[in-house]
Amino acid sequence: MSTRDLWNRYARYFNAEEGIVFPADQPELDFYTQIRKEYTGSYLEIGAGSGRLAGSLEGQSAAVALEPSDLMLAKWSVADRELALRIQGTGERMPFRSDSFPFACFPYNGLQCVPEEEIRIGIIKEAFRVTAPGGVFLLEVSPVFARRESEPLTERYCAKMPDGTRLVLREKVERRRDTNTIKYHMFYTTIDGDRETTEEITLELAVISRDQIISLLKEAGFCDIIEWGNYDRSPYDNELSPRLLVLAVKGIQNVVTDSGSCFDYSF
Ligand SMILES: C[S@@+](CC[C@H](N)C(=O)[O-])C[C@H]1O[C@@H](n2cnc3c(N)ncnc32)[C@H](O)[C@@H]1O
Repeated sequence: MSTRDLWNRYARYFNAEEGIVFPADQPELDFYTQIRKEYTGSYLEIGAGSGRLAGSLEGQSAAVALEPSDLMLAKWSVADRELALRIQGTGERMPFRSDSFPFACFPYNGLQCVPEEEIRIGIIKEAFRVTAPGGVFLLEVSPVFARRESEPLTERYCAKMPDGTRLVLREKVERRRDTNTIKYHMFYTTIDGDRETTEEITLELAVISRDQIISLLKEAGFCDIIEWGNYDRSPYDNELSPRLLVLAVKGIQNVVTDSGSCFDYSF
C-alpha cells in the first residue's frame, strides 16, 4: 500500500486520537511555539498531517505544509489553512528549490513512519537540500521504541466521539527483528447504536537509534547538532528520555545546486 493510501485510511483515526481520545500535548505545542520565536522566517513542515502543529509553527512569514495524504490535508481547519500553503507530496522527493527554507522540520516521529531505510536517507538528504544555508532542520524521533516488545491483542480505549458514536481500539504489537521495525496491528471498531464496523490498519514504524539519526544528519551535510530529550529541552539520555529532538544547522558554505523539477514556489 502506498504512503498516501495508508495515511488516507489512517487519517480518521489518527485525527480522532489527537485531541479527542487523548488531550493535546501542551508541552509539545509550547516547544514549537518557542522554537519559532528563536528561528524565524519561512518554514517547511514535512509530514504536516492535518495541521495539528500549524498554529504553533506559525511565524508571520510564508509557510509550506508538505503531506502525502490528501485526506489529512483536507482535515485542516479553515483557520489553519490561512497559515500555510498545503502541498501533497513526500519528503523523499520534495517539489521545492534548493536552499528555500530557513526553518524545516519533520515532527512527531514522522521519519519513523517510513520503514524503508533508503527512503529515510532520501528524506534527510532532501531536507538538507531545501534548507537555506544558515538555516535549521528540526527532527523528532523516539529511539525508546527499540525497547518495545511484542504484545498480544488488547483493548486500548473505548471513547465517545463528538457525533455520539463510540470508537474502540484493539491493538496487537509485533516487534520485528528482521526488519528492525514495530508493526502496530490496529482494529478500530465504530459503534453507532447497535451497528458495529471494524477496520484493520497496520502501521509499521522504524526503530531508529540516536546514533543512526546523528550519522544520517552528518552524512547529509548538517552540522552543529543540538540534542534534547524532551520538549522541556532537557539533555538527551538514551535510557531515560521519552524522545529525541535534534536541531541541525546547514552551514552557510553548504549551497546545493537544484536538481529535478521544482514546484514554482518563491518567497
Ligand atoms: C505521526 S504523523 C504526524 C503528523 C503531523 N506532523 C502532526 O504532528 O500531527 C506523521 C505524518 O508523516 C506523514 N508521512 C509518512 N510518510 C511520509 C513521507 N515519506 N514523506 C512525508 N511525510 C510522510 C504521514 O502522512 C503523517 O501525516
